[in-house]
Amino acid sequence: MTLLAVDGLEMRFGERLIQTGVSFKIEKGTIFAIMGGSGCGKSTLLRHLVGLQPPAAGSVTYNGLDYWAADDEAQAKLRAAFGMLFQSAALWSSMTILENVCLPLEQHKKEMDEAQREARAREVLEWVDLAKFADYYPSDLSGGMKKRAGLARAIATEPPLLLLDEPSAGLDPISSKRLDDLVLDIRERTGAAVVFVSHELPSLFAIADDGIFLDADSKHPIAHGSPSALRDSATHPTVRAFLMREEPPAAPAGAAKPVPFTP
Ligand SMILES: Nc1ncnc2c1ncn2[C@@H]1O[C@H](COP(=O)(O)OP(=O)(O)OP(=O)(O)O)[C@@H](O)[C@H]1O
Ligand SMILES: [Mg+2]
Repeated sequence: MTLLAVDGLEMRFGERLIQTGVSFKIEKGTIFAIMGGSGCGKSTLLRHLVGLQPPAAGSVTYNGLDYWAADDEAQAKLRAAFGMLFQSAALWSSMTILENVCLPLEQHKKEMDEAQREARAREVLEWVDLAKFADYYPSDLSGGMKKRAGLARAIATEPPLLLLDEPSAGLDPISSKRLDDLVLDIRERTGAAVVFVSHELPSLFAIADDGIFLDADSKHPIAHGSPSALRDSATHPTVRAFLMREEPPAAPAGAAKPVPFTP
């Protein structure tokens, strides 16, 4: 069953086109990868999906409801269904980890009292192995711990759609594998669909069921499918360079060449 349908999305900043013709569907319980080189528009696409920034054109339909055409009340209701881990983790520095994780519960779970919210926040911190750090501030945590705290905040309300922007970037391979296992575990436990942006090939191959590849040069998607299927069958040289570390396509004629350093 389709949870999210993106149709003919166009992404721009002012006059500058970032991507056009972006269409895909995400089924319930699917782990969906957004792939592509730096600056191709992956984080911007996530912002269009979670209602933080309207696209220049196209639609984002969630459970049959067109988000950007819906009224404020319907949009607010839909936003309660999204759990987002930002690329920078985006924790509030003046709040403890526990307070950060309680925030979405205060916003979206009005039926819970304070004690219930705290108990729930401690439970998700346990899942991400940060129970002992509940009273720490974000500045007291390592990069990987911040990512896990951001993940705890994103999953606190058990949203049916979880969006993760480079959850394992900057993590060592063991922490990265743990994070993958955690994402699989969350999907198993809650039945959530997960949209994640990643450059980490082991993660992409291990957990993604489906995906899309955005190309910065042509400014439109150049491949659809699971990363492992694309690894085995993609023909586009940019996709092959990304997934198989093949020689990348040559830079366009006239592109600036690096100038050798002469002391
Ligand atoms: N607020 C903004 N105003 C203007 N341009 C922006 C803004 N945010 C992003 N861009 C531009 O849009 C393009 C896509 O940015 P985005 O952050 O979505 O890329 P990305 O694929 O997530 O890259 P990375 O892999 O490096 O995180 C980039 O060229 C960037 O310069
Ligand atoms: Mg990004």
